[in-house]
Amino acid sequence: MLSAGENERLTRVSAGTPMGELMRRYWVPFLMSSDLPEPDGEPVRVTLLGESLLAFRNTDGEVGLIQRNCPHRWADLFFGRNEERGLRCTYHGWMFDIHGNCVDMPTEAEDSSFKDKVKLTSYPVVERGGTLWTHMGPSDVPAELPGFEFFSVPESHQFVSWNRQENNFAQAIEGGIDSAHSNFLHASLDAFRRTDAWRREGERTGNLRDLYHARDRHPKFFAEDTDYGVATGARRDTGEGDYYWRFNLFLLPFYTMPPGLGPQQKFFHAFVPLDDQTTARWSFVWNTDRPITGPERRLWRRGYGIHSELQPGPEHRPVRSMANDYLIDRYDQKHFSFTGIAILADEDYSVQEGMGRIEPRHQEHLGTSDVGIIKTRRRLLREAAALMDGAEPLTAANGRLYYLRSGDALLPHDAEWSTDPRTLELMTATR
Ligand code: FES
Ligand SMILES: [Fe+2]
Repeated sequence: MLSAGENERLTRVSAGTPMGELMRRYWVPFLMSSDLPEPDGEPVRVTLLGESLLAFRNTDGEVGLIQRNCPHRWADLFFGRNEERGLRCTYHGWMFDIHGNCVDMPTEAEDSSFKDKVKLTSYPVVERGGTLWTHMGPSDVPAELPGFEFFSVPESHQFVSWNRQENNFAQAIEGGIDSAHSNFLHASLDAFRRTDAWRREGERTGNLRDLYHARDRHPKFFAEDTDYGVATGARRDTGEGDYYWRFNLFLLPFYTMPPGLGPQQKFFHAFVPLDDQTTARWSFVWNTDRPITGPERRLWRRGYGIHSELQPGPEHRPVRSMANDYLIDRYDQKHFSFTGIAILADEDYSVQEGMGRIEPRHQEHLGTSDVGIIKTRRRLLREAAALMDGAEPLTAANGRLYYLRSGDALLPHDAEWSTDPRTLELMTATR
């Protein structure tokens, strides 16, 4: 539980707030390259850290991220014309390049230098792995792109999706590190009866989750601060003299890395604050050893597992939402699945958005399964407070810290989970 004041500090992301300033120290993903598919194409509205922005791709294929309103008399540049040399406001024809310079001001005399004095806010953009990233903080403070292993595998091994989520980013992160919920929210009703069938499947494939996840319904949770954020371990007794451990990482400032979809298929989420009440949930998937297949891509694009089914259009809004009760099927819920909601990602939204836009954390009752959540909140608040005192976050300038994996492992009872060589090897990225 947090006090109301702490909850404010945790969740507010506008410029000038402690958390908003912390977020501005990092590079953040804001669109996929395919959201701006062609030079001189349609601009796309972007809201990021509470700021109203506009993204567009110029004639040379470079992307600009600029303030949305024209500095002349504040018309919305979304309606602008994406012309040969920049974006032209439709009200009086002022034109701006991707760096925010006014490059044409037809309402003033040809020899006027007024246009050289007008500049709109623009942020630097980097395109990497089919995604667009920006940095909204002070340009004189060093910042590196996070060096995830995702970026070091071939394009054929990568898959990315994102969608809007109608709640504050912190409760989305907390959902991402809360591995206690998968036994319930994402379970089928016969999950615990199927242990034997799963075990046979696990013996065939070597998948530890199939073998051991359902064996112990009362996992114990442990959490520790690390250089990149917080590591959480969920420990289950195998009944065979070992513990089955699943690791779930929080990486500053808004990433979570669950154990992955298999030993060679990994993913991380970025829960990027669009404003105090809205979040972009990103899923970056990569295979360490092989291309992602066509059928997998097709399935994920249409909505499956951690990827929501999306409405058409640039907004990336899920089909299933609070407005239609996530298309819950009560018959399915009675007979087959815990929720009756068809897609795993949307199951997450039903609980996270169901908390309200900003969870009232002073009303919670946290238990022993919430240790990772408690540590993560404290870490974020501590980093934000340290920055207010002048200490820059170390992770923002050290992309190499993000070069790691998560996973699961069998460890003997007496192993020290977070420092055991087997755990460390598991978390080492090698591509
Ligand atoms: S408001 Fe944009 S040119 Fe006048
Ligand atoms: Fe979940």
